[in-house]
Amino acid sequence: MITNKKNSSRNKTMALTVEDKSVFKNRLITLSDLKQHPDITNTTICADTFKALSYLPNEFADLIIIDPPYNLTKNFGNRTFNAMNTKAYEKYLDSWFHQVCLKLKDTGSLYLCGDYKCTSCLQRAIEKEGLFILNRITWQREKGRGAANNWKNGMEDIWFAVKNPKSYYFNLEAVKIRRSVLAPYKKDGLPKDWQATAGGNFRDTCPSNFWDDISIPFWSMSENTPHPTQKPEKLYAKLILASSKEGDMVFDPFLGSGTSSVVAKKLNRKYCGIEIDEEYAMLSLKRLKAADNDKSIQGYTDGVFWERNTLQKQNALKQNLKNS
Ligand SMILES: C[S@@+](CC[C@H](N)C(=O)[O-])C[C@H]1O[C@@H](n2cnc3c(N)ncnc32)[C@H](O)[C@@H]1O
Repeated sequence: MITNKKNSSRNKTMALTVEDKSVFKNRLITLSDLKQHPDITNTTICADTFKALSYLPNEFADLIIIDPPYNLTKNFGNRTFNAMNTKAYEKYLDSWFHQVCLKLKDTGSLYLCGDYKCTSCLQRAIEKEGLFILNRITWQREKGRGAANNWKNGMEDIWFAVKNPKSYYFNLEAVKIRRSVLAPYKKDGLPKDWQATAGGNFRDTCPSNFWDDISIPFWSMSENTPHPTQKPEKLYAKLILASSKEGDMVFDPFLGSGTSSVVAKKLNRKYCGIEIDEEYAMLSLKRLKAADNDKSIQGYTDGVFWERNTLQKQNALKQNLKNS
């Protein structure tokens, strides 16, 4: 439930006020709007994806990011997604995955998120569709609920697939990770493949498919909202920077609190997202409005992604650049 209550000053979680609701409700695109105005550029559609998809043009998206309900019992606003057996979850995926893939350009890329319970179903859905799996990213989430008789789940998967493995866009340079150099080798007295800076010694490295530099949004981060499964902006920034160009269209059929659209906007891409829950859809609009004035993405500065817990080093570097 999203309320009007005041948070403590350090709690930056974004919530909807009564005034926000009266403003943003009218800005949501409904199914009937969609039937009359099929231009979906930079829109937040509040509807059931399964109904809305047929009104969207085929092959309009350069990049599709899908973060569907996982096979867990979870409340999303007023609706509950109920865990089911594997066969039933595969049937659920089959009921929409092909329709979503029709929206992807032939040169486009698709990312599909899941956890250890549903990841095999996701792989099968992608293979059945005839897409080419190029990778499976494992994101170490860090935060997770402890279990008395099991290992705590601290990871998620993000499947990376394309329609045409001979023709897709991938920008490795845009997603390098800045890491501290532990062994600062020198050649002829000069740093070998690293930079000596006021904030420390760093090397920009190629990212692998294991991501351990991204935390789940929490209450002291301005990107945080009350959505129960919000993805970090830094995570989506990597997907969007690697797999789309400025001006490209990013589509998200399970928008939630709007992370994909917000990050697309911050990185000068176009966006379209569909979310069934009105409050989450309005939160997306509020985040999109905030992005008019603040394009920052925590953990991504000056064109590079930073390792976790390096804020002090980043600030020292910034300060030094300012003073120089
Ligand atoms: C895992 S969450 C996505 C979270 C999102 N990535 C974010 O960063 O906030 C899945 C979302 O899909 C929405 N959803 C579930 N079924 C839907 C449907 N049939 N049509 C549209 N949205 C749906 C849920 O309300 C929920 O917000």
